[in-house]
Amino acid sequence: KKLDALKITIEEDKSLPVAIKSKINKLEIGKRFKVSGWIHRLRLQKGLAFIVLRDGYGYLQAVLSGNLANAYQTSTLTLESTVTLYGTVQELPEGKQAYGGLELVVDYYEIVGLAPSGEEAFTNKIQEGADPSLLLDQRHLALRGETLSSVMKVRAVFLAALRTTFKELELTEVTPPCMVQTQVEGGSTLFKLDYYGEEAYLTQSSQLYLETLLPSLGDVYCIQESFRAERSHTRRHLSEYTHIESELAFISFDDLLVHIETILSRSVELVLNDPIAGPLIKQLNPNFVAPKLPFRRMEYIHALDWLNEHGIPNEDGESFKFGDDIAEAAERKMVDTINEPILLIRFPAEIKSFYMKRCSDDPRVTESVDVLMPNVGEVTGGSMRSDTYEELIEGFKREGIPDFMKHYYWFIDQRKYGTSPHGGYGLGTERILAWLCDRFTVRDCSLYPRFSGRCKP
Ligand code: 4AD
Repeated sequence: KKLDALKITIEEDKSLPVAIKSKINKLEIGKRFKVSGWIHRLRLQKGLAFIVLRDGYGYLQAVLSGNLANAYQTSTLTLESTVTLYGTVQELPEGKQAYGGLELVVDYYEIVGLAPSGEEAFTNKIQEGADPSLLLDQRHLALRGETLSSVMKVRAVFLAALRTTFKELELTEVTPPCMVQTQVEGGSTLFKLDYYGEEAYLTQSSQLYLETLLPSLGDVYCIQESFRAERSHTRRHLSEYTHIESELAFISFDDLLVHIETILSRSVELVLNDPIAGPLIKQLNPNFVAPKLPFRRMEYIHALDWLNEHGIPNEDGESFKFGDDIAEAAERKMVDTINEPILLIRFPAEIKSFYMKRCSDDPRVTESVDVLMPNVGEVTGGSMRSDTYEELIEGFKREGIPDFMKHYYWFIDQRKYGTSPHGGYGLGTERILAWLCDRFTVRDCSLYPRFSGRCKP
């Protein structure tokens, strides 16, 4: 049988129309194309071979028949091999609409690179339902799967949608440094590094730098990696994540809240209307409905009442009292029950960062906000910033930040050289995606997730 197969030669019929080189998403019915990609699915049977080809732009069903199917080279094909297929595109009959509803009737093909068979075969590396840590070792291969690659496409569209939204609102994009000598969100999650003999850190947030740019560039934003040495393994914590941060000058707390809900709802609207991401979200998260404006506002103090009324205890197993942190589990129970976005506002100064402005009507609490989404919890944190010299210094002292005059002089200078009421926020990209794409953990929304115990591949 093999000898018979070896006798078959595969050659291109030069009398056919010249094949047009194309990506899968640009094919047209009736024309002859040349399409290169990876073998995503493969079914070999006598006289027929079905391939689903993947090229990063889409999936294409292809059919090989006769000599093409019987040739020896076809029997060597494996999943994830690369091939260039030549053939004519036809519409699939009703009811066989998988993968875009088109089929390539192949008349000739070339193998570009054969992937291993046997022990090393792709299916042995990536097994559905395998231990997540084994799958993470093979992340470079797992990313080829339909679900992960869909999330990454939504991610790209979401980031583009945000940039569009920021442009509409006239914010300027900047790229602050990631190697810094200041903390923003507490010393316990700092990644330290040796910077030519000096102590430095990987940035936790670009907020302080954004604040310094208001006088020169106006309202600004950045999309940059932030780093947190989070020891605990949770569904929503990474050691490195893509942080979208903005800072706005001469605004009130209420302006900030309106801005945040506008950014979120507008960017989600753009993603849902996008021809690539819209259908992917429908597949990944069929029940997703775009959040309606305005988002529900809820004060921290009222959230405590809500939690106590619903019998949800604090971390010590007791009822909530003023000053308690609302930890992940309680926060999730609340937002999942209410089942709509919540702007949780006015947290006590003691459980928030040093820079947050106190409320004029109740100085125990700050002009701060966390945006909570069902199934994920907090996706965004923001606040108005202490804009007087005295209040800022008091914050540094309260948080026990060492040598703040030496390390933060450039930040403190903002309160000396023309202060302004201002505020901003940070959005966790992976958390927004977990919400949009209904993923169990933010790890599924990061290309190569970093968390304690994992820094590869
Ligand atoms: O609430 P956070 O810590 O706020 C700040 O960093 C502010 N300085 C931002 C600002 O005002 N410019 O973080 C903001 C958001 C969180 O709401 C969350 O979505 C995300 O960043 N985040 C994380 N995402 C994944 N893994 C982690 N370890 C995260 N820590 C925060």
